[in-house]
Amino acid sequence: MPLFFKNMYSKNLFVLSFTCDPETDPILEWLTSEMSLQATIEEKPHQKPIVKIYLQNKKEGGLLKKKLKHSLFHFSNFRLSSLPSNWTTRWKKGLGLLRIQEWIVCPSWISYKGKNQEKVIRLDPDMAFGTGHHPTTRMCLEWISKRALSWEKVCDIGCGSGILAIAAIKLGVQKALALDIDPEAIEIAQKNAQRNRVHKKILFSTKAIAFFKKPQKYDAAFANLTALDIQKNWKNITRLVHSPKGCLILAGIEKSQISFFEPWLKKQKKWVIQDQKEEGDWKGYLLKMTNVQ
Ligand SMILES: C[S@@+](CC[C@H](N)C(=O)[O-])C[C@H]1O[C@@H](n2cnc3c(N)ncnc32)[C@H](O)[C@@H]1O
Repeated sequence: MPLFFKNMYSKNLFVLSFTCDPETDPILEWLTSEMSLQATIEEKPHQKPIVKIYLQNKKEGGLLKKKLKHSLFHFSNFRLSSLPSNWTTRWKKGLGLLRIQEWIVCPSWISYKGKNQEKVIRLDPDMAFGTGHHPTTRMCLEWISKRALSWEKVCDIGCGSGILAIAAIKLGVQKALALDIDPEAIEIAQKNAQRNRVHKKILFSTKAIAFFKKPQKYDAAFANLTALDIQKNWKNITRLVHSPKGCLILAGIEKSQISFFEPWLKKQKKWVIQDQKEEGDWKGYLLKMTNVQ
């Protein structure tokens, strides 16, 4: 089971689900940011999207069901159910199509052809992080979608399932370096790159960032890592990105870490915060290189 699912679901025994309209983004944002709930949206072809909220406590679920039924009167089929005891091995079956703006993250066992402007990423995350369900992955994807047109080469540090490097290449980036210290993640990411036919443009490596002593310079680096990992690797991460259009996407900052991470980040010369996003317990930053050398 991927790390993210372990963290997210291991304590959750109940799921509150309901169907909603195709315009699903605001509801997910509201549930995760405003209500601090762990929620996902699953989309299957020819079916209405299903919102799922994962909970630890049946009583809490019952109260929430009542409250949501009352306030979300245009949604239907509210159901509170227990997760099966073999949930940890059945998680795959529960994954459907996931929409993140123009992206559709499609589990590799579902056949789906993108419609209109949709961009499809086919993924089997297996044991690696990066299904698109986690807020930090979504933040990165959203920034990549807006910026990728101006990049030629990018570096994905801690690539997990490979989702970010794959998305960048699908948006026209010519080359990506995808690093992960976990060899299993690299194996999975390579398979995912093949599924999306972008493998020839991505170099995968389990080598530490510091290994890239004379790196090719990248237009952007993505680091969806913990605050401590970012701080520890700061010099090596920033060394990879070149001026003046250099861009750094950081995510994976837990709310409790913001108080020490953000002041530290603001002190880093050569970099300014251009945008920031918060969702649920997580925060991410888009940084731009300044001209100060
Ligand atoms: C939160 S996941 C991010 C996965 C994916 N990039 C995403 O955004 O969904 C973090 C990944 O970074 C890897 N990782 C942690 N520390 C690392 C480091 N110092 N260098 C490279 N990878 C690292 C982990 O093995 C894990 O796969």
